[in-house]
Amino acid sequence: MRLTEIAQTWIAEVLEEGDIAVDATLGNGFDALFLAQRIGENGHLFGFDVQAQAISSSHDLLKSEPCQQSLLHIGHEQMKEYIPSSYHQNIKAIMFNLGWLPNSDKSIITTPETTLSALSQSLELLAPNGRLSVMVYPGHHGGDDESKQVMHWLEQTCSNRQDLTYNAVILPNRPTAPILLQVNKSNCRELP
Ligand SMILES: C[S@@+](CC[C@H](N)C(=O)[O-])C[C@H]1O[C@@H](n2cnc3c(N)ncnc32)[C@H](O)[C@@H]1O
Repeated sequence: MRLTEIAQTWIAEVLEEGDIAVDATLGNGFDALFLAQRIGENGHLFGFDVQAQAISSSHDLLKSEPCQQSLLHIGHEQMKEYIPSSYHQNIKAIMFNLGWLPNSDKSIITTPETTLSALSQSLELLAPNGRLSVMVYPGHHGGDDESKQVMHWLEQTCSNRQDLTYNAVILPNRPTAPILLQVNKSNCRELP
């Protein structure tokens, strides 16, 4: 199974009809389509991307999906501002797939500073029992530093909080392969 499929299968364990979900890096819209199909007509999907092409491809892919859709041509580092406050702490699943848009301009990539800001906001937005998945690419130009920073930040953040558990799915014997990071939020509160 590909790591992107493992990410979706893991998210699907908690995502239900009528839930609110976020695709933080729309790209070609494949994760967004998966989220839309799970949440159905009563769900609300938010999607973010900095490239017009990604918004357009995602619109095309999702046009038959009945859920409410807010596909925003905005960086994910602004997600808290654009997701209504009534949804904060009610979002069941947030997916990130970092790096560049396949078959596109490889100079437009996610960057550590904006990614860490968006991840921090995601942890605030996530519902108790919600899940956050992050695909990082240590083998890509620019992805090595970002992967290290993201993994370090998640390890630190999750070790300081009782309500978060963190797991990394690493393919054996492939040091430059993508890595799937999984964060699970429980009902417990932050450590004092
Ligand atoms: C690997 S692709 C995402 C693939 C996508 N999840 C899919 O299923 O097709 C990464 C995407 O992140 C986008 N991106 C880069 N910086 C971003 C930012 N600050 N906010 C949101 N998206 C960003 C890129 O434009 C690119 O489309």
